[in-house]
Parts: sequence; C-alpha cells; structure tokens
Amino acid sequence: MSLPAFLTALDALVAEASRSLTTVGDVEGLEELRVRFTGAKNGQLKSIQKIMGSLQADERPAAGKRFNEVRDAVQLSLDEATARLQSSPTAKKSQGPLLDPTLPGIRPRLGHLHPITQTIEHLKEIMGRLGFTTTEGPEIEDTWHNFVALNIPEDHPARDPLDNFYLATAGKNSVDPAAPDAMLLRSQTSTVQIRVMEQRQPPLRIISLGRVYRPDAADATHFPMFHQMEGLWVDRHVTMSQLKSVLRMFATSYLGSDVHIRFRPSFFPFTEPSVEVDYFWNDNWVEFGGAGMVDPNVLAAVGYDSEEYSGFAFGLGVERLCMRRYAITDIRDLFRSDVRFLRQF
Ligand code: FA5
Repeated sequence: MSLPAFLTALDALVAEASRSLTTVGDVEGLEELRVRFTGAKNGQLKSIQKIMGSLQADERPAAGKRFNEVRDAVQLSLDEATARLQSSPTAKKSQGPLLDPTLPGIRPRLGHLHPITQTIEHLKEIMGRLGFTTTEGPEIEDTWHNFVALNIPEDHPARDPLDNFYLATAGKNSVDPAAPDAMLLRSQTSTVQIRVMEQRQPPLRIISLGRVYRPDAADATHFPMFHQMEGLWVDRHVTMSQLKSVLRMFATSYLGSDVHIRFRPSFFPFTEPSVEVDYFWNDNWVEFGGAGMVDPNVLAAVGYDSEEYSGFAFGLGVERLCMRRYAITDIRDLFRSDVRFLRQF
C-alpha cells in the first residue's frame, strides 16, 4: 500500500469512528463499536497497523505519527461516548436489570401493638366478660372533675402544684391551681367516674382506661406518665364483697389462678371504706391499685341519691399489671422505644 492510500484509510477510519461513536445510543452498541475499532485481534486499528509494515522504510515515520494521532482520536471518541451513555438514564437501564429476580427477597418487618396497648385490650376483654363497658375521658381536666367532685378539698395535699401538672392559665404565663378555670393533666382516671355519673343514671357498670400524669421521679416501678384502669359499679345494694369478688376474678383471669391478692385498709377521699389492692410477686406484696365504696359525698356531687344507690370504684395501674404478667422488672423499659425489647411481646 502507498503512503497516501494508507493516510486516506486512516482518515476514513477516524471519520467513521467519530460519526458512529457520537450517535451510538446504548451500551451494547458502544461495546460493538469498541470491538470494531480497537479490538485487539480484528479491530480496524489493529488491521491498519499491520499494513504499516508493508510501507517503505522512509514512509513509516510519517505513517506511524498519523496512526498514533488517529488511535488517540478514536480512543477519545470512545471515552466521550462511554461518559455520555453512563450519565443517560435510559442507557443505565440497558446495562442490565437493576432488579435481580434470583436474589432472595427482603422480608417486610411487621410491627405490632405496644405491650401497654395489648394489655389495655386484654383488660377490656376480661372486664367486658364481667359486664363492664368501656368509656373514655379527657386527659386535660378541670379541677372539678380531678378533685372537687371527688371530695378532694382545696387544701388537700393531693392538689399541690408539686404533685400535679397544672397548665398555665389561659392568657397568662403562670399557673394558678386555685383559679376556678385551672386545668391540669389528669392525675387519675377517677375523673371519668364523675363524667359518667354526671351524664347517666344508675345502674352503671363501666371501666375507663387511659393515661394519667404525675411529676413522680422515674424508677423501676414509677413513671411520670402511666395508665390506669378505672372501674365503677353503681346500683342498688352494691356491696364491698362484690368489689372484692370482682377484683379477685379479674386478677385470676389476668394473672393466673395461683395469684395471691390482698386488700389492705387505706384512705381515698372519694371512697369509704377504702382499700389498697396488692398481689404477691417476686417474694413481695406489690400494690397495683386502690379501691373502695363510693363516698356518699361523691354521689351527692353528681346528684345521685346515696340512700337509694351505692357503688364501688377501683383504679389499677396498667403498667404494674402488664409487668407482672410478662415478668418485666423495670417500668422504664416499656417507654424507651427500644425495638429489641418491644418485639418480644
Ligand atoms: C389512685 O390513683 C386512685 N384514683 C385509685 C382509686 C380509684 C381508689 C377508685 C379508689 C377508687 P393511687 O395513687 O394509689 O390511687 O394509684 C393507683 C395505682 O396507679 C397504683 O397502685 C399504681 O399501680 C399506679 N401508679 C401510681 N403512680 C404510678 C407511677 N408513677 N407509675 C406507675 N404506676 C403508678
């Protein structure tokens, strides 16, 4: 081959490479072009390089120089085409499926109800079988429902601002627990007894489960937010022995027939007589609630005739019940939101 023919062949090669590489639209096409132009065995550059050996000795330097220029230009066109296709979204798809259907699947992680929510549902179900229907009351309360109607007078220590979460009085930045419109986060679910009795006439057999708030320091058995189950039964001739039977039946249903339960004389302003209810656990008596016969003053506050009607009420700590059933030794574990702990329930 003559030198001019060789140079013409090189020009044709570089022109074709440039044209096809600037228009190629997918990576498979690009790979074909790479093999066609720069393939180590049969690539066009390789073929043309072989011809160089047949040129005259004095023609070879010029031929070699032009060959190197063309090889670099083809390589540059290849690099540009590669970069262009890698940044194009459609080209990415054609690199192969992003989804490999042969890989094992990813199992979706199913959540479940929090153990306290599960406990609440369980308690409702047990008490439902004993004929108690569920009602609800607000968590933000006035002092009438949280204290006054429950026979807790203004100077009673239970109303101390240090023992309650009072809310700042509307329009002011300060807390005034004695103000007639004072509001607080309810400290007990006994508020719902009043709300139900204000709206309905006996006979009543209700429970109410919900959150209550007290500025108690958190320890293994106390938390500043916890749940209570309130129970109230008002009818003619309701007696203390019925109260004890209901609480015993409830405890054996929830905690098992071997549970030991004890009633200790106590005092609550809204019940008379009053008891603390304990169960035996881990070699100790643990208090899980308070109870008693509804005080006639409370019946009077809601307009019931205490000569005709009597009733009993109880308020149990839901966390303490849940802890006993599942052998949880620290109440704080229930509220740490640690999934490793919660997924056990
Ligand atoms: C009361 O709250 C009364 N309202 C109960 C009652 C209702 C008595 C109806 C009579 C008639 P007490 O403050 O004892 O009572 O609380 C009841 C239960 O709530 C306790 O026994 C305990 O199980 C639980 N409890 C009290 N404080 C905390 C706390 N900081 N953290 C977790 N549980 C608590």
